[in-house]
Amino acid sequence: MQVNELITKQDHTPVLLAEALEMLQPQDNKVYIDATFGAGGYTKAILNKANCTVIAIDCDSNAQKYAEAIGEKFRNKFHFVNDNFINIDEILKNLNINSVDGIVFDLGVSSMQLDNKERGFSFSGNGPLDMRMDNRLTTTAEKLVNELYEKELADLIYNYGGERKSRSIAKNIVQFRQRERILTTAKLVEAMNPNARSYQDNIHFATRTFQALRIMVNNELETLKLTLRKLPQLLGPQATMAIVTFHSLEDKIVKDFFKEISQDSSGNLFERINKKVVTPNYQEIRKNPRARSAKLRGVRRVL
Ligand SMILES: C[S@@+](CC[C@H](N)C(=O)[O-])C[C@H]1O[C@@H](n2cnc3c(N)ncnc32)[C@H](O)[C@@H]1O
Repeated sequence: MQVNELITKQDHTPVLLAEALEMLQPQDNKVYIDATFGAGGYTKAILNKANCTVIAIDCDSNAQKYAEAIGEKFRNKFHFVNDNFINIDEILKNLNINSVDGIVFDLGVSSMQLDNKERGFSFSGNGPLDMRMDNRLTTTAEKLVNELYEKELADLIYNYGGERKSRSIAKNIVQFRQRERILTTAKLVEAMNPNARSYQDNIHFATRTFQALRIMVNNELETLKLTLRKLPQLLGPQATMAIVTFHSLEDKIVKDFFKEISQDSSGNLFERINKKVVTPNYQEIRKNPRARSAKLRGVRRVL
């Protein structure tokens, strides 16, 4: 089978692509990083815009097949690395690159990850409680749900999911798991609140709990914080950083960091590209509902 045939129509639709590209302004002979390659939507757009090089990173080995398809077309203009973006400094060092001209992050999970029941990210459909973006990680959602103490579980669901009913959800889970180990996404939904109506405040009652577990399994917030700290040293003059986030905890980390490195005091290396956060327009949300919570922020190196 041709690599291209593996890429089906349910693949990821890139969010805020035009807006992120506008921030990045790809130019000939420059080097860009796509830190969250996914199905390569951002990478393709960058490579089609200018005769430049893209270093693409994704911790999910399933991204490899999309990389192969792009590699066939762009050959030595494209390098894919199956690693966590927290290792970005090492990745560039191994490629003998000292600095780059732009970096883009489109955080969170891809549609391929969400839609594959076997990955356990989604409560619609049934699959193993996994939720690892990178299958080299050792902690799965199953482990957290079955092995955390009730208070730890409640705090996790509250802190990473913003779920007001975290205490009762944790209590229900702990009661349920005394009878049987919770192995699947459907069992977790059943355990959380067997009597609940599916939707509350227009969102499924499991949404926030699933988000919290995913963030914890993949250590998403800590990874983002530590990675951001490494970026200023890796960006050359006029280089840009553009970051798309999908929930307020991530957005706050990016917002605070960008503010810190672009204060209006002398000696600052960066300036914010847009004073206001960029969000998808109505047409994009209508075409791709998964875009609805996306927020884009960017900074440019001035010195
Ligand atoms: C929203 S998708 C990106 C989609 C991509 N922009 C596209 O157009 O196809 C996010 C991707 O980032 C990857 N990812 C998330 N956190 C990561 C991390 N810490 N290191 C490397 N990849 C990560 C996920 O595996 C996923 O494939």
